Amino acid sequence: MSFEKKVTIAHLSDLHFAGRNDRYLMEKLDVMLGEFVRRGYDHLVMTGDLIDTAVPAHWTIIRDALSRHGLFDWTKTTVIPGNHDLIDLEEEMRIYNALNPDDRSRQRRVDERLRQFNDIFRPLISGDGEETAGVPFVKVMHFGQIALSFVAVNTVDPWSGSENPVGARGSVSRETLRALMEPGVRQALDDTFIIGLCHHAYKVYGTGALVDQAFDWTMEFKNRDEYLNVMKNLGVKLVLHGHFHRFQVYQAGGIEFINGGSFRYFPERYGELTIEAEGRWSHRFVNLAIKR
Ligand SMILES: [Fe+2]
Ligand SMILES: [Fe+2]
Repeated sequence: MSFEKKVTIAHLSDLHFAGRNDRYLMEKLDVMLGEFVRRGYDHLVMTGDLIDTAVPAHWTIIRDALSRHGLFDWTKTTVIPGNHDLIDLEEEMRIYNALNPDDRSRQRRVDERLRQFNDIFRPLISGDGEETAGVPFVKVMHFGQIALSFVAVNTVDPWSGSENPVGARGSVSRETLRALMEPGVRQALDDTFIIGLCHHAYKVYGTGALVDQAFDWTMEFKNRDEYLNVMKNLGVKLVLHGHFHRFQVYQAGGIEFINGGSFRYFPERYGELTIEAEGRWSHRFVNLAIKR
């Protein structure tokens, strides 16, 4: 850990591992993580869709890769889930019953996968092994003189034939939003540089053409403005997200949103965030230029 007056964060999103045999992506991830260690980043963030399969055992691919590089550590890495981590579309189709479209079990399946996600990644969520720790969470870290915090939420909504036909629409639950407004949260974040983490994109760029509007709807972050308000209230400076596979930086309501693109489709590219004293920060996208 550096004791300079800055903290550097590497950001990856949407890795979409297809399973243990996804050797191409594994090789790419090993190169990337090796570079992060070599370049001395203080922290790594992954904003969901770690796997493509929603098979909980496949998260261990990510866990093991992080471990190989000494990054499976609360101080070094933070991860959250995306829709492809928590929803198996084929399973939903199989179970779907047109006569009982309001089936509550869809939410239960998301909750159950989230429970397993928390079990595997708990060492990255809680520094002191707290047994109930899970997404959503707040994480406060000190790097030399700089205190940094993450406010991480789950934005994955269950599948629904009419409301969420590809499982890609999302929202933050009322319960989470309410919990984040508790005075204790503000106190915990006091005097820290606060970064929001979520999977879904505040903005999904459309062209206004009808076909694009339909596409936007299937991916939309439904209560994004409620989320934005809570982030504003907490004093969040920027939000890191993924989901919409583009590397982008944009503003909404005075908060900077950074879309980390997709590692699966651009495995040479990542986001680099530098935070300095007094809340100064900068961001750029970096392309690995590795000679082989
Ligand atoms: Fe994705
Ligand atoms: Fe996604």
